[in-house]
Amino acid sequence: MCGIIGHLGKYNNLKIGIDALKRLEYRGYDSAGLAAFNAEKKDIFSLKTVGRISNLEEKFSKSPIFGNPFILHTRWATTGRVTEANAHPHWDCKKNIYIVHNGIIENYRTLKDKLLAMGHKFSSDTDTEVVSHLIEYFFKGNLEEATRKALKLIKGTYALLIISREDPQKIVAARLSSPLIIGIKDKDYFIASDYNAIIPYAKKVINLEDNEIATITPGNFFILKEREPEELDLKLEEAQKGKFSHFMLKEIFEEPEAIRNSISGRLLPEEGLAKLGGLEEVKDKLKEIERMIIIGCGTARYAGLVGEYMLEEYAGIPVEVDVGSEFRYRKPIINEKTAVLSISQSGETADTLAALREAKRKGALALGITNVVGSTQTRETDAGIYNHVGPEIGVASTKVFISQLTILALLTMYLGRQREMSLVTGRRISQELQKLPGLAETILKQDKQIQELAKKYSQFRNFFVLGRKYNYPIAMEGALKLKEVAYLIHAESYPGGEMKHGPIALIDENFPSVAICPSDSVYEKMLNAIEEAKSRNGKILAVATEGNEDIKKIADDVIYIPKTLEMLTPILTTIPLHLFAAYIGLELGLDIDKPRNLAKSVTVE
Ligand code: AGP
Ligand code: GLU
Repeated sequence: MCGIIGHLGKYNNLKIGIDALKRLEYRGYDSAGLAAFNAEKKDIFSLKTVGRISNLEEKFSKSPIFGNPFILHTRWATTGRVTEANAHPHWDCKKNIYIVHNGIIENYRTLKDKLLAMGHKFSSDTDTEVVSHLIEYFFKGNLEEATRKALKLIKGTYALLIISREDPQKIVAARLSSPLIIGIKDKDYFIASDYNAIIPYAKKVINLEDNEIATITPGNFFILKEREPEELDLKLEEAQKGKFSHFMLKEIFEEPEAIRNSISGRLLPEEGLAKLGGLEEVKDKLKEIERMIIIGCGTARYAGLVGEYMLEEYAGIPVEVDVGSEFRYRKPIINEKTAVLSISQSGETADTLAALREAKRKGALALGITNVVGSTQTRETDAGIYNHVGPEIGVASTKVFISQLTILALLTMYLGRQREMSLVTGRRISQELQKLPGLAETILKQDKQIQELAKKYSQFRNFFVLGRKYNYPIAMEGALKLKEVAYLIHAESYPGGEMKHGPIALIDENFPSVAICPSDSVYEKMLNAIEEAKSRNGKILAVATEGNEDIKKIADDVIYIPKTLEMLTPILTTIPLHLFAAYIGLELGLDIDKPRNLAKSVTVE
């Protein structure tokens, strides 16, 4: 993970770099650092801090550094603890080479042992530092030459920016499996891990490709494999919290809008059809598909699991769902009648991309759902669907998850109508989808009540989140959100029917369960699980359908959702669970936007 910024051009004040780096903080926030070449002093100066970029900003305001070129980094530690010494940039023995790195050098131990034996002195425990020493080893006055030789010895993944005191008018940039973009405006060059950070400074961009090394010099740049810059068609969407104290809360309150944006222009209600422009090119191939594999990590996988229920029930397509990190090491059985659907908010998740590549290599049709235009996933899939819900800043995914579920419902209509789904069913789903944004809004009106419940339940340290069928993946999502943003609590999800096979042993008056039990085809079955927990003195917070008064007799507390089609209930039941987790996190005094140890975009294996 991590965020990288580099600049070569007219700006000498690193405040610009720090501001750009802040737009990458979602990629990691364990520590931050910068380095710049000062032409007057003919030397490189560096600053580092542990923690957020605001700490670096504070240190910088007390002892500013001026110079050009400059490089900056915000770290998500993979190798070496979170300390100032391990913060990037890293340098060589002579303090000639300075680098920032995103990724993991997998063979760093072997390389480090060799370098140590040759007398190199290391100042950090990171994998990254071996790169600066390797470049030092090959350096004979030309930075890109030395970098090229060093990279040949490296195994792993990287986005790298390198500057040198002895070859100072230059930034060398290299990429393998971690994004790196060069933005160009006249004679100014900005290099970053994603578009967002450089939108104010660049109108044209070059998306560096794997194994490419770029050398940026005043007024010029050179890539080993030359390509034309693309026009950058993106506007800077400054993220504002508005009236909300946290992005996560704001984004939960945007969930009705997320449903609206996801279906906008994509429904033909009369024909009972979904119109998915991004799939047009592969429309005929999709008719032939006999099996689908859905890949995602974390929250995205849970969306995929809901998709499995939808697609099997309504489109009659056998579906398998796997986490990227597992799928990539399996021997999956794939043929040309298999479609792989990669779901990723960022479109940059390394595990998901690796699984996608593996499936493609075996001949699968590659489809994707992502929120980030121009992301790696978009470039590597044959066809896809955008979420179109605007940037998601909170590290925990909320509105994008809701949008993923909505798009999976559209995809189910699309593929279903290509197959056996009737016009009547298509119309029915379509009508219910159109009502959903309004229904979602009514749930948010219970905000105060959910906040009160969060207060009440925040005293517990363990939770079960239970659900069945369509809402079993939502139980997983509810438990993950509690783990992520209310991390003093341990939450575990189970299908309601599985409790009696073991986990029920944990239930007592201190171990409550959140039971997702809308009035659907498995309601009665969920009631059994609730009764079983109640008989062991377990407290129950139920998420039930409006009008179900009986549930109040068993559950200690109830949050109501409006009635909808069974396959769409997950879109509604998720909303109170997102709010519940956010408010418990706040009740426990935690930073719900940037929970400890996490990063928004996980670009390492
Ligand atoms: C969600 O709350 C998590 N932070 C995490 O599980 C996330 O969904 C996962 O890392 C996948 O990210 P992606 O959607 O960008 O691929
Ligand atoms: N592997 C490097 C480290 O742990 C880089 C991690 C990152 O991408 O932030 O420092």
